[in-house]
Formats: sequence, C-alpha cells, structure tokens
Amino acid sequence: MKVVIIGGSGLIGSKVSGILEAAGHQVVAASRRNGIDAVTGEGLAAAIKDAEVVVDVTNSPSFEEEAVLEFFTKSSTNASSFAKHAGVKHYVLLSIVGIERLAENAYFRAKVAQEEIIKNAGVPYTIVRATQFLEFLDAIAYTSSSDDVVRVSTAYIQPIASADVAGFVADAAVNVPVNGIVEVAGPEAFPTDKLIGTYLSSKGDKRIVVGDPEAEYFGAKLEATSLVPVKSHKVGETTFEAWIKTAA
Ligand SMILES: NC(=O)c1ccc[n+]([C@@H]2O[C@H](COP(=O)([O-])OP(=O)(O)OC[C@H]3O[C@@H](n4cnc5c(N)ncnc54)[C@H](OP(=O)(O)O)[C@@H]3O)[C@@H](O)[C@H]2O)c1
Repeated sequence: MKVVIIGGSGLIGSKVSGILEAAGHQVVAASRRNGIDAVTGEGLAAAIKDAEVVVDVTNSPSFEEEAVLEFFTKSSTNASSFAKHAGVKHYVLLSIVGIERLAENAYFRAKVAQEEIIKNAGVPYTIVRATQFLEFLDAIAYTSSSDDVVRVSTAYIQPIASADVAGFVADAAVNVPVNGIVEVAGPEAFPTDKLIGTYLSSKGDKRIVVGDPEAEYFGAKLEATSLVPVKSHKVGETTFEAWIKTAA
C-alpha cells in the first residue's frame, strides 16, 4: 500500500516511515526538504497520487500565534483537499490530548482548528491524540526558565516516548479509519514539576525547579488534569526510567 507521510522527515514522521517501510509498504516521506510544501501546496498532488493513506505529522516552524494558526489551517486544508481529489481512503492526523481544554494556548487553538478541517474534509480519518512527548521535556523546561529557576505547574503530565507515538500512528495508518479520535499516553502520570526536576537532575542540570500551581504552560494555566487523558486511551510501553537511559 502507498502511504504518504507529510512531515515524514520529523521526529515522529521518520519513525512512522521506518515502521511502515519495514512492514513492506511503499512510503513517501514528504516535506519541504524534498520539494513538498503543504502550506503552499507545491508538490502535494504528485506525492499523493495513487496513495491509499495520508499521514499528517507536520509541525509549524513558528509557534507564534498567527503563524501557527496559518500553518496548521493551510497545510491541513491543502493536504486533505489533495487527498480527497486523489481518492485517498484514510487520512491520519497526529494531534494532542486536551487541546480543547486550553484555549489560552495559541498552539492548541491551532491544533483544534486543524482537527476541525480534517473532520470536515470528506476523507475517512483517524485523529491520534498523544500526550506530551518525553522528548518535549526540554522545551517545557526551557520555556519555564528564568535565570536558574524553572517555575513549572504542579498539574499532572503523562508523557509518552516518540517511538511509542510513532507505533500508534503507524498502527492507525494500516487499520480502518475510526472517523473519530484515539487518545494515546505514556504509562505513568507525574506532577509536572516533579518530573521536570527529576529529568533535569538526571542530566546534571543544576537549575532549581519550583512547583507553582499558577505557573503557565505555554500561556495557559493548567488544572490538575488538563494535559492527561480523561477518557479511555491506549498506553505506550516506555517508562520514564527506561527512556531516560536511552536518551542520556
Ligand atoms: N511535542 C509534543 O509533545 C507533541 C505531543 C502530541 C502531538 N504532537 C504533534 O506531533 C506532530 C509532529 O511533531 P514532531 O515533533 O514530529 O515535529 P518535527 O520533528 O518538528 O517535524 C515536523 C515535520 O514537518 C515538516 N514540515 C514543516 N513545514 C512543512 C511544510 N510547509 N510542508 C511540509 N512539511 C513541513 C518538517 O520537514 P521540513 O522541514 O523538511 O519541511 C518535518 O518533517 C505535530 O503536529 C505536533 O502538534 C506533538
């Protein structure tokens, strides 16, 4: 089966490509570096021709409010229109658990808009919503830092390894569309401040981590369960302890 992975060179896309290629599928890893731009539409028609499945794992180069909204709306409108025109049977989109609960977060608002485009595109679809990647902990620490203090929310986080996310996305791609949302998360939930503290000290990072219920997460105040799945969900196998050994 021909599968086009838009964002196929990224953290998740490269892993999904590897899994599907190993399973014998014809994979086209599409992104700007091989002349396919989902925002302008350049190269999409040729890439998607004869594909049965499109996997959308792009990410915006900018997280600035207007830029991120423009990126996710234009890229998914283009990709899903070309997919419909080409008779694609399944569109798989990677999104994020809890986005509808955090409207103050511009990136999450853009992902909500992206999901709506895919739900209404007229192509059978599966939206895989993942929790924060373990590989994203650095970004959380970075954006929460001021001098030597990292001020982080005490709300729960249930991070998942990117390898497990890729496995769930690949699995969705080879199965029938659910025309709905599948949520996936890591096997353990932690207070975010405790996890960031353990993560930074495991790397020998001496910054002081302060748990603060009022600390914002990318512009949004978190409730205790804002970032974790509240409904039934699939669970990745990689624990934080196992992941940190491979990430070190
Ligand atoms: N980080 C998290 O914790 C988390 C949690 C849940 C879900 N997600 C979602 O996971 C998805 C994938 O994230 P990731 O970390 O794998 O992203 P990533 O590593 O930044 O990769 C992004 C991919 O998008 C491609 N891309 C960028 N602009 C493009 C364009 N105009 N046209 C075509 N391709 C373009 C990039 O390739 P080129 O540069 O070659 O174009 C790259 O292949 C995102 O949608 C994100 O919202 C993230």
